[in-house]
Amino acid sequence: MDLGLSGKVAVVTGGSEGIGRGAAQSLGREGVSVVVCARREDLLRSAAAELAEATGAQIVPVRADVTLAGDVERVIQTAVDRFGRLDILVNNAGTSAAGPFESVTDDAWQADLDLKLFGAIRATRAAVPHLRKVGGGSIVNVLNVGAKQPAARSVPTSVSRAAGMALMKALSKELGADNIRVNGINIGLIKSGQNQRRWESLGRPGTLEEFYAQLARQTNVPLGRVGEAEEVGDLIAFLCSSRGAYISGVSINMDGGSSGVV
Ligand SMILES: NC(=O)c1ccc[n+]([C@@H]2O[C@H](COP(=O)([O-])OP(=O)(O)OC[C@H]3O[C@@H](n4cnc5c(N)ncnc54)[C@H](OP(=O)(O)O)[C@@H]3O)[C@@H](O)[C@H]2O)c1
Repeated sequence: MDLGLSGKVAVVTGGSEGIGRGAAQSLGREGVSVVVCARREDLLRSAAAELAEATGAQIVPVRADVTLAGDVERVIQTAVDRFGRLDILVNNAGTSAAGPFESVTDDAWQADLDLKLFGAIRATRAAVPHLRKVGGGSIVNVLNVGAKQPAARSVPTSVSRAAGMALMKALSKELGADNIRVNGINIGLIKSGQNQRRWESLGRPGTLEEFYAQLARQTNVPLGRVGEAEEVGDLIAFLCSSRGAYISGVSINMDGGSSGVV
């Protein structure tokens, strides 16, 4: 299936590992030039070089913290300066933050909203004029199953993600006339940097693959495994492609069937 993505330009926030890296890889394989951003510069640079080698695409690393408005604008501007256009924005940068309600301080609430909600708001605000200029484009917000199905001890993430899903829906209505499609992906459990760090912080019990298999059993994933970052990347590429041209305003569960809601 030709996704019709060749020659397009994308920004992927948090593109140095995990799902963001998977998205950059899937888009790069389809001939998309990609600007990836993250804070840890060494990891970002090596990831961009490896992705460029693996995909043959131009992958440009820009060190940035998405909680800083100036950094976010610089990332978007770099894509436009470097490639002359912008077609795709993947709001992915984030990390897990969940605990019992009474243990979460105001600072922790604020930090989560700054990272996951305001990061996406600011990147989208900076990107939209450029998407409009090329006749339309696609925005994907990477969210969490908690956005639709908030569990006990899931704050602040589930609340930040519900806000991200509402943002996605509102924007899909507002920007449809500009042929800008906005969608979300509600992630369950995907192999990634943060999950590898969980295994390391537990003292590396067994192999990483055994850890993932145990996680899948503990959380009763119907498909019986933790997902691959590249599988999310492929969904992102499809949603951003001409093959997904009539899809907007949806948030798709990518959770191996775990979620109890559609
Ligand atoms: N994997 C899962 O099972 C899962 C489940 C639910 C939701 N999600 C969501 O999926 C997204 C990707 O997660 P992941 O599991 O792939 O995580 P990951 O492997 O830890 O990757 C996170 C990426 O985001 C970057 N990042 C984090 N904070 C940033 C900031 N302030 N500014 C710029 N970049 C930042 C990281 O680089 P630096 O640290 O160097 O900045 C890294 O590139 C996140 O939004 C996460 O909440 C993942």
